[in-house]
Amino acid sequence: MSSYAVTGSASGIGAAVTRRLRAAGHAVIEVDLHDADILADLGTPEGPSAAAAEVLERSGGVLDGAVLAAGIGPSPGPDRPRKIAQINQLGTVQLLTALRPALAASGDARAVVFGSNSASVTPGVPRRVIRALRAGEIDRAVRTLRLFGPVAPNIAYAASKIAVTDWARRAAVTPAWAGAGIRLNVLAPGPVRTPLLDEELANPAAARAFRAFPIPVGGVGDPGHLADWVMMMLSPAAAFLCGSVVVVDGGSEAWLRAGEWPRPVALRQVPRYLLRYRAFSRSSSTRSP
Ligand code: NAI
Repeated sequence: MSSYAVTGSASGIGAAVTRRLRAAGHAVIEVDLHDADILADLGTPEGPSAAAAEVLERSGGVLDGAVLAAGIGPSPGPDRPRKIAQINQLGTVQLLTALRPALAASGDARAVVFGSNSASVTPGVPRRVIRALRAGEIDRAVRTLRLFGPVAPNIAYAASKIAVTDWARRAAVTPAWAGAGIRLNVLAPGPVRTPLLDEELANPAAARAFRAFPIPVGGVGDPGHLADWVMMMLSPAAAFLCGSVVVVDGGSEAWLRAGEWPRPVALRQVPRYLLRYRAFSRSSSTRSP
């Protein structure tokens, strides 16, 4: 039996993951705003550290995996862009960072962060919002986001998922994560039938835009299917999966962005690449034992 922490466990994909893990005989520590072992608001300054302290206590300081599924969608609402950034990015990064020592203590752990295909299919996300979020300067990000009026939540959502994905990929390959036996990866779903999507589509403008959104497989995803992907990313099969973004979106991203990735390395980027080669050879602790 292994021990996992799951945020967003009370609903949607997080709930489906919790059911899958329990059915497989594992111990799950649930974290959510409601109906969970640990009640915490991950969008507040103190929420992530309080939740982490309780998870560490319940797990005895050793975790085999963490699934960071708590999040809110791009629905309209008061101060929504700020809440989106605080919960989807900042709270996720703070909680997972606080859990890292417990994951490292297992010696062979997995962490799955929830991104979204919105990160790669939403047009017009300003670089300066992403830079501000990466720096943890939410006030600065929100000032720019306000300029987007009714679509500010959509831009904030995409930006929060870009920033959290960026953080996870950079952290995943370092000695503190890969070198400590933790495989940290990102799952990026497309539209999945959950309360988050239902809330978004209750807005008539969003529902109209959604009807035009290309999903080549012909419909939205099911939380159980996404939970199956999480189970794979928590399994021994993920031993060689590190810093990857697993896009499970019915083909939307491929429809909209095929040809943009993979992209060859331009010759002008070679000096930067060589610096990264050199930095890696100096940090031998990221190699397998
Ligand atoms: P959901 O709304 O069904 O579940 C989200 C859970 O997170 C809820 O139980 C909620 O109480 C919890 N939560 C929200 N704010 C919180 C806070 N401040 N502190 C603690 N818990 C909080 O949503 P769903 O669809 O299951 O989403 C799971 C993840 O998947 C999210 O990160 C979402 O952004 C991502 N995602 C979902 C997509 C979809 O179409 N459903 C598409 C792409 C990504």
